[in-house]
Parts: sequence; C-alpha cells; structure tokens
Amino acid sequence: MSKDTVTITDNSSGKTIELPIRRGTVGPPVVDITTLYKEMGLFTFDPGFLSTASCRSSITYIDGDNGVLMYRGYPIEQLAEKSTFLEVAHLLLWGELPTKDQLDKFTSLIRRHTLINESLKSFYNGFYHDAHPMAVMVGVFGSLSAFYHDSLDIHDAGHRELAALRMIAKMPTIAAASYKHTVGEPFVYPKNTLSYVGNLLNMMFAVPAEEYAVDPIAERAMDLIFILHADHEQNASTSTVRLSGSSSANPFACVSSGITALWGPAHGGANEAVLTMLEEIGDVKNIGKYIDKAKDKNDPFRLMGFGHRIYKKYDPRAKIIRQMCHEVLAKIGDKNDPLFELALRLEEVALNDEYFQSRSLYPNVDFYSGIIYRAIGIPTNMFTVMFAIARTVGWVAQWMEMIADPDQRIARPRQIYDGAAPRNYIPIEQRK
Ligand code: SDX
Repeated sequence: MSKDTVTITDNSSGKTIELPIRRGTVGPPVVDITTLYKEMGLFTFDPGFLSTASCRSSITYIDGDNGVLMYRGYPIEQLAEKSTFLEVAHLLLWGELPTKDQLDKFTSLIRRHTLINESLKSFYNGFYHDAHPMAVMVGVFGSLSAFYHDSLDIHDAGHRELAALRMIAKMPTIAAASYKHTVGEPFVYPKNTLSYVGNLLNMMFAVPAEEYAVDPIAERAMDLIFILHADHEQNASTSTVRLSGSSSANPFACVSSGITALWGPAHGGANEAVLTMLEEIGDVKNIGKYIDKAKDKNDPFRLMGFGHRIYKKYDPRAKIIRQMCHEVLAKIGDKNDPLFELALRLEEVALNDEYFQSRSLYPNVDFYSGIIYRAIGIPTNMFTVMFAIARTVGWVAQWMEMIADPDQRIARPRQIYDGAAPRNYIPIEQRK
C-alpha cells in the first residue's frame, strides 16, 4: 500500500479502491477521486464544498489556520505595503511582477480600453434611480457580451487577453456610471492621465460645473483596498465565474455571474451589511443586545463582517485595513468617527466572547473596509461595487487559467437524490 494513496473500502459491497494523493506546492494534499464513481459506483457528498478542491490553481494560496494569503507566492502584507493595484493585476494575470516597461505597457493597454460603447449609456435609462448599483452592474456589465464580436474565440489566447483587458478597464467606468445614474448626475468620461483608482474617483465625484481634484490619501487607501480584494482562491463568486466559464460561455457574461454571486450579504455584500448593522446598533450600549442576537439560533441576525469559511484566525486583510482605518480617519475622515469607535468596541466584545472564540469567528475583510469607503465619501450602496471592481482582476485571472488548462472540462456536479421513488402517472380523474 503506497504512502501516497488513500484506500476506500465499501463495506456494503466489499469493494476497495486505492486513490492517489496529489500534493501542491504548499497546503493540504488532495485525494483524487475522479475514478471513484466509475470504479466503486459511489459519489462523495460535500454541500458548500467544505472539504472539496474544485480545481488546480497557481494564482492564490490561503492558509486559514495561520492567516496566510499569497498572490503568486508573494505575501499579501508585502504587496499591500510595496505594490500597486495594477502591478498586482499584472502579477495575478501573468504570474510575475512586471518590469517597469511591462507595467507601463500594461497600464497603457488598460487605459486604452476604459471607454464604453456610447450605446451602453442608454442601458442605464432602463433602471429607475433607486435601483441598487449592483443590480445595474449585473445588467450593464453582462450586456458587454453583446459586443466585441471580433474577439470572442475564448480558445484564442489573444482574444482571451483582449477580453481580460477590456473587463478590467471598463469595470470602473460602468461602476461610476451606475453611481451617477442613481444620483441623477451626468456621466463623467475616463481621464487616462489619472491612475486606475484616481480615474474611478474622478468618474464618480467630478461634476461638469467645477474642477475635481483626486485626494491622494483617498487614492492610496482605495488602491490598497483593491489590492486586498483582488483575488481570494475559489470563493463563491470566483467559483461561479469558473463554473459558467467551464461551458465556454462568453467571458463578459461569466464575470456578470460573478458580480451576481458577490452581491450576497454572506459574501461581498457583507461590507454594505456591516455599515447597515453598525448604524442599526447605533451606540456602544447596544452592543450586548446585538451580540446576544448573533448567538441566538432562533434569530437570523449574524454579526456581519465576522466569520469566514477558511480563516479560523484573523483575516490578514482585515488586520491591514484596520490599521489603515486609523491612518485614513486621522487624515481625511472623522478621526472620532462614532461608527469606527463602535466597530472597534464590537470587535473587542465579540473576540472575548466564548461563542465567537469557540467557532473561530474573527473580523474578515468586510468588517472595516466600509469605514474607509465612508470616510472617502463612497455611498454605502456602492461598497460591494468597489469590491466587484477589485475582484474583476481575480475573476478574469482565474477564468483565463481555467480556459487555458488542457484538462478543463464542463463542471457538472452530481447529487444524492432523496425525492419520490419511481411511480406511474395517475390520470387527473383518479387523483384525490
Ligand atoms: C467574504 O470565501 C471567501 O474567500 C470570501 C471572501 C473573499 O475575499 O472572496 O473572503 C469575502 O465573503 C468574507 C465573508 C463576508 N461575510 C460575512 O461577513 C457574513 C457574516 N459571516 C457569515 O455568514 C459566515 O461566517 C460565512 C458565510 C462568512 C462563513 O459561513 P460558513 O463557513 O458556512 O460557517 P457557518 O455558517 O457554518 O457558521 C459556523 C458557525 C455556525 O454556528 P453553529 O451552527 O456551529 O452553532 O458559526 C456561526 C454559525 O451560526 N456563525 C456566526 C457568524 N458566522 C458564522 N454567528 C454569528 N455571526 C456570524 N457572522
């Protein structure tokens, strides 16, 4: 019996199988069960995929027990301190930190694709002003799949690269227009003399009537937050993009499915839900009541921004954002922002409560990001849109990796059936 296999014996049939263990660069090895059904007539059952690796990837690595996050082998702490969002985008897409020439070329390529087709602007008029910007994003970004007929062969590497550049470049333009539509202000065109984040802030907050100057502190804070949100292994939205992409669907439509999955409050929608929760708690004296609600099995309330499927220690991104909160609020926000004070106190109370300790529930990336967005002037209903802009890089990098994988095939999970046993049709006159 090899040490690199797992033996499964089905005691009901007496059949045994040795399954290979596969090992990556770091992290838990996997049991390759691809032949299990064929050889043993057995499926595995893992709703929510707590113990299931859905693919092989070389992009991002997470060690939840030790609070480790790496993009292409580089620790997130080093990238947060030393890199920029577009440099990280290049790293995630192509696997290496760019040289200066490569970064300049990549930046100019992104800049060349920031405009959206003028006809897209009319799509926004189909939405009422009170539409949630994420609903607008799903619709308008998905409609990009109706364009670019010159580059839709996803098995052509050049077409994939062009689609990738277009998606990363146009997401901020579509996002800013989604915001402008809800506030009834005119759309602002991209300005390619600005940085990626500076361009986003200008498209969101500039108005024709006056000059708008991008605040460098806000620009750096957003660039850093985007680095932290760029990719995160096989999370729900990335897995959604991979699943829809596995049928060779249009890449713009696949990323639109990622936006949809991210919107949920259990996932990327949590940053907006955290602010709503903090505003509902309102005062430090109410923290105990909400901690009790979060612990009450009969109460659907959860402490938003707390807990993570993988991190059973502090989310390394939350640590970085928490520190950045202090710096940003000291410079541009209200350094005594009552919601930040409330968040710090809520964190302290929860981290010292047995319920959260015993379930390894720590603040995640969404717990503090909204505080910074609010200090910058980003409206709460745009928080998840900011997350979507940053995560587009991860979605696109993972989609490209999947399509280029020679072993890639359509994802088609199975099930355990517990419905009606076989039965015959009953004519309507005989039904009771
Ligand atoms: C993101 O996957 C990713 O990588 C996601 C993400 C990324 O970058 O892509 O990191 C971004 O989505 C971060 C997570 C943002 N979501 C929230 O903050 C929403 C609040 N948190 C949760 O709902 C929850 O913690 C999840 C969804 C994040 C994780 O859910 P799991 O892993 O399925 O855990 P679970 O629901 O099975 O909870 C385990 C236990 C349960 O109690 P018991 O049944 O064991 O008694 O912990 C409890 C849960 O009730 N629990 C919470 C809680 N989160 C879990 N109780 C109170 N408040 C919470 N926030």
